[in-house]
Amino acid sequence: MISSNLFVLCLLLLSVFVGGDEHNHIYEENEEVVLWVNTVGPYHNRQETYLYFSLPFCSGPKETISHYHETLGEALQGVELEPSGIPIDFKGSISTTPYCEVGLSEEKLKAFTYAVKNHYWYQMYLDDLPIWGVVGEIGENNEHYIYTHKKFEIGFNGKQIVDVNLTSENKVKLENGAVISFTYEVSWKNSAVKFEDRFDKYLDPNFFQHRIHWFSIFNSFMMVIFLVGLVSMILMRTLRKDYARYNKDEEMDDMERDLGDEYGWKQVHGDVFRPSAHATFFSALIGSGYHITVVTISVILLTIVGELYTERGSLISTGIFVYAATSPVNGYFGGSLYARMGGKRWIRQMLVSAFLVPAVVCGTEFFINFIAIYYHASRAIPFGSMVAITCICLFIVLPLTLVGTVLGRNLSGQPDYPCRVNAVPRPIPEKKWFMEPAVIVALGGILPFGSIFIEMYFIFTSFWAYKIYYVYGFMLLVVLILIVVTVCVTIVCTYFLLNAEDYRWQWTSFLAAASTSGYVYMYAIYYFFFKTKMYGLFQTAFYFGYMALFSLGLGVLCGTVGYIGSSFFVRKIYSTVKID
Ligand SMILES: *[C@@H]1O[C@H](CO)[C@@H](O)[C@H](O)[C@H]1NC(C)=O
Repeated sequence: MISSNLFVLCLLLLSVFVGGDEHNHIYEENEEVVLWVNTVGPYHNRQETYLYFSLPFCSGPKETISHYHETLGEALQGVELEPSGIPIDFKGSISTTPYCEVGLSEEKLKAFTYAVKNHYWYQMYLDDLPIWGVVGEIGENNEHYIYTHKKFEIGFNGKQIVDVNLTSENKVKLENGAVISFTYEVSWKNSAVKFEDRFDKYLDPNFFQHRIHWFSIFNSFMMVIFLVGLVSMILMRTLRKDYARYNKDEEMDDMERDLGDEYGWKQVHGDVFRPSAHATFFSALIGSGYHITVVTISVILLTIVGELYTERGSLISTGIFVYAATSPVNGYFGGSLYARMGGKRWIRQMLVSAFLVPAVVCGTEFFINFIAIYYHASRAIPFGSMVAITCICLFIVLPLTLVGTVLGRNLSGQPDYPCRVNAVPRPIPEKKWFMEPAVIVALGGILPFGSIFIEMYFIFTSFWAYKIYYVYGFMLLVVLILIVVTVCVTIVCTYFLLNAEDYRWQWTSFLAAASTSGYVYMYAIYYFFFKTKMYGLFQTAFYFGYMALFSLGLGVLCGTVGYIGSSFFVRKIYSTVKID
């Protein structure tokens, strides 16, 4: 009873957070247009942001309006809208007008000087269109200036706002005791831009050069064809040879066979379907991997269809929603794998499965949040959002995972392996160093990484700098190519491992594919030192925290894809060989 009430409460919470802004973007003549201020932060790190009013800016004469309702996604991204108090009316041009004054005390002077020194920018929103402005400028003799005049040029098309330009003018030197008067002016212009196209000017086709994208896709695609050809050729030839050899063995009599040289993957038929080590954790990882893959592909598709990147935070809200809604996927595949491995403690497995990803994400968030609170950054996640996330995990993700687990255990939990598992594990023979699982794992990620690293540059740059990522079609192609390459490489790895009569292929195939993320993380380290100008504890922790999260997610995705490919492969080769 209580839990069902809480469930309804959560749904309500969710609808409030996700429902968001009901603005219809239609304005009548002289209707009020609200200018929202959002954040300030250093230019070199888009993700390090503080509240606009954490700098001693002053707000305009307009009475403050109630706090803006954020969506959950916005709150998680650190969007923190406050009304600026600057009066603007639709089509009402305003010539230069002062809107407030700040007397520079020692403390305020210090804050502004710090902001100017660190190239702070502030961000505002007008009718959901983002506007950026620079706080100040450093003069020739290292004196600091602040811009005091904001010139808004707003383009309208019919009753809708389609374009906003902000120019910062009139710099004033920062001096102790000075009184700084902030002014603004607004001019309205008829514009031919269509309302649907008003975000186009924020997209940067010069940066996201389609030529480079096509080139890299073409490259990766060639690699895919090459790999698929190579894998099928090697396997066809080798397997045919192996089968021929095994068949010949059969024709020999027992005496001969005892002396014969049986070797290779067939030898481990009694062990290859032995449950993997740490079955609970392994099946939870695979379940989560299926889940992450489904969420990634659905969110990319939804973004392509809905152009989600034009709305603040809607990508994250959608991601959370899709994640919660597709939880049964996690339970189904994790639970059925665990059942096939003969696992009995399925409730424990389900709990690990359901909370693995949320726990890692929230753990990292908690760590970053801790630093963000210390620095008073707007990135600190509000308490309400934390409660909402916890509610979603407990009352949506958990029950749906339970449903999935029960279904998975009952529908595909039967171990229908082609070979029986021997009672006693076979000893693993000595082998050459390059056949060791650790080496295979380390090498496995190179090719998959090679197929994605160009796209990584674009994704990193749009996350950490002022670019809006919008080429999601390319991203989808890259993800598909990554999946194919990963599967091919992992199958080859698994073949080598089994041929060396090492049957521990489950973890090896997972980790060999997942090691892609190790290379991505190394690339992230390179990117940090050579492509960004970040500095300080906050930015460093923030960067490496989020990159670790990203890499882990990618690793679980690749690992699962690799494992799925290998398990098909293993099942296939052992179901065609005759076991005596
Ligand atoms: C904003 O600036 C761009 C580029 O300078 C210009 O093309 C556009 O017309 C301006 N918009 C308005 C409303 O003035």
